[in-house]
Order: sequence, then C-alpha cells, then structure tokens
Amino acid sequence: MEFRRITNLPPYVFTIINNLKIQARHDGADVVDLGFGNPDIPSPSIAVDKLAEAAHNARNHRYSLSRGLPKLREAVADMYRRNWGVELDPETQVTNTIGSKEGFSHLMWVLLDRGDAAIVPSPSYPIHIFGPLFAGADVREVPMRSQQVIDDQQYADEFFANLTAAYKLGWPRPRVLVVSFPHNPTGATVDRAFMQRVVDFCREREMVVVHDFAYADVGFQGYTPPSILEADGAMECAVELYSMTKGFSMAGWRIAFLVGSAPVVQALVKLKSYLDYGTFQPIQIAATVAMNEAADYPREVCATYESRRDALVDGLARIGWQIPKARGSMFVWAPIPEAYREMDSVAFCSHLVRDCNVALSPGSGFGPGGEGFVRFALIENEQRIAQAVRNLRNGLTRLTA
Ligand SMILES: Cc1ncc(COP(=O)(O)O)c(C=O)c1O
Repeated sequence: MEFRRITNLPPYVFTIINNLKIQARHDGADVVDLGFGNPDIPSPSIAVDKLAEAAHNARNHRYSLSRGLPKLREAVADMYRRNWGVELDPETQVTNTIGSKEGFSHLMWVLLDRGDAAIVPSPSYPIHIFGPLFAGADVREVPMRSQQVIDDQQYADEFFANLTAAYKLGWPRPRVLVVSFPHNPTGATVDRAFMQRVVDFCREREMVVVHDFAYADVGFQGYTPPSILEADGAMECAVELYSMTKGFSMAGWRIAFLVGSAPVVQALVKLKSYLDYGTFQPIQIAATVAMNEAADYPREVCATYESRRDALVDGLARIGWQIPKARGSMFVWAPIPEAYREMDSVAFCSHLVRDCNVALSPGSGFGPGGEGFVRFALIENEQRIAQAVRNLRNGLTRLTA
C-alpha cells in the first residue's frame, strides 16, 4: 500500500534517540532525559480543581464550540491587553485551537495550496516545516544563525537579507512567512523593532506572517518576549498562536489560540467548523479560570526554567563546554564540542545515551540548519540537571583531555 502524503516523510530522528533511551532504561541505566520538550511542572491547581468540578456537570459533556466559549475568548483578549497592550476583538480576532500544533497545521491548509510557497527559518520546530509541506506547498528555508540574542542590528540585517533572498528565489512568490520567538530550538530572541520589520516586510509583499508564540511567557533576566501584534499594521497581515502549554504548563490539556488578523482567524474558524467540535468544555472553563485567576503563574514557571538554564549552562561551562545563555524558551542549544565534531548530531546524541546516560535532541531533527548542534530541554529538576552534568563530565573524556 502507498500513502503518498506520508511516504516521503524522513524518519523522525528523535525516535532513534528515544529508542536508545528506552533500551538503556530497560537494561537498568538511569538516563537523564533532556530530549523531548515535555514540561514536567504541574498545571495551576486552580485549573485542575475547576476542571474536576466542571467535569461533574453533565452539561459540559456535550459537543462544545470549535472556536471556544465566549468567556474563554474574552479571557484571551484581557490577557493580551494586560501583557502586551494589544486590543483584540474576542468575536472576530480570537479562536481556540486544540494546542498550537493542531492550530498551526490546519492554518497551513487554510493559507497554502499545492504550488504555493512558504518561507520558514531553519532550524525550526519540525511542524513549521512539515505543516506547509502537508498542505502541498514548497518550503524556502531562511538560515537562522545559531546565536541566541538576535536583536542586535547586525543580526537583524543579516536575517532580513536572507529573508529577501528567499523571497526572490523563484516563482510563485511566497504567500506565507513563519516565525517563532523565543525560538525553538536555538533560543533566539528578538525585540519589538524586529517584529515591526517582519510586519512591514509582509505588508509590502501582501504576505501573511504566522508567529508561533509558544514561549510567550518564557523570557529571562527581565526580558519580555514581544507579541508580533504590537507592531503597527499587524492586524492587516499577522496572526499569532498563543499556547497554554508552556507558560501555564498545561501541555496535555491541548489548549491554544489563534489571534490577530480577523480574516485569517475567521478562515481557520471556517475550516475547523468542518473538522472538530473544539476542546473538551471543562478544559475550556478551567483554562478561562487559569488566565483570569492565575495570571501570575507563568512568572513562577519561567523562574523555574531560568534557574534550570543557569544550573545547566554554568555546570557545562565548568566541564569545558561553553554555551551562551538564551534570554528565552526552555532550551539550551549547544554546538557539538570541538573534540567531537567528526560526529554528526545523531551519532553524538547516540554516544551520549550509551556512554553518559543523557538523552538530548539531535540538531538535525530541526532541519538541515540544525546539524552540528544538540538541544537540551529544561524538563528535569536541578538535581537531575546536576546529575546530567556529572554524567557528561565522566563520559565526554575528550572534553577535558
Ligand atoms: C515552537 C513550538 N510551537 C508549538 C509547540 C507545541 O505547542 P502545543 O502544545 O500548544 O501544541 C511547541 C512545543 O514544543 C513548540 O516548541
């Protein structure tokens, strides 16, 4: 049998490392897993309590609204006003999605058709590349320099030069630009001026820009990640995905939102009205309560990731692996140490599982631009991170040689 949409998909490289980890654990090894970015911090207890209460009400067992309950959409608009000074009309400029991954994938179906083109940075979160491909479009990659702070003028200029080159590369002209800051996997962050340039670029070319704002709440050292909707003219061309997965640590609940340009939001509403009946209603109710009554919870979550980042980056520096500190995201993006550069990222990660009992994500899993790097996800506590650093010191003998 042939399944044309999936036959040409490359093997998911993360599976290779995951299988090695499962095997090692099966053999009795205590592997510290900093691979998959699956948050370990509990969801706010007020949301858990509300979920339990709402689940007991039979009225909430019926189909819900795909675009989200009105109070849920109002809570999102209030949060955007509070956090980013952005005004959203909950009726036309906000819709619920079943996590941002689902929202992003279906949005690509709405925005792109066979023969269209999209511009996507490389490396990227994999669905940013595969979403447009599933929709039948061509993907033009823009290199993301693997450097964390990209709000300096020189880097921004370099990014826009690459973006312009990707735009001009061929016919048809791309219709969609995908961006996401703080960036997974590199941890790159940007400022408002950068977002304004993105919006200006897309308005001039009548493109839609999709900003995946998964790490909206995860900025360190007093840095607040900007919303693309803060830029002048953004409502004409930009949409943003805000997810409760990271800031509110509600990964398994599958709740996120598409906000911004009303025609684009409403186009997704239309497609999804054919596809689903939305997130389980008790989850929508609990998410509303979380945004309204646990608005400071993301700050606590963020502080946890910041101290884990410090524990890891400082620990690695002590064993001779120097990595800059990112100002956002829940990842540490590390070049493979000089002494191990003959290995590609999958070989290096395989070595780390076998000889150090540490599981990481190989950079090549995020596209060709990720080769030569590995990604640590900050999803274990500081004791376990210290354990990972000790394991790496003992297993990476060439580091200290
Ligand atoms: C950039 C980015 N977008 C989206 C997601 C998935 O978010 P959600 O749980 O809302 O689907 C992740 C998760 O790691 C991510 O890193």
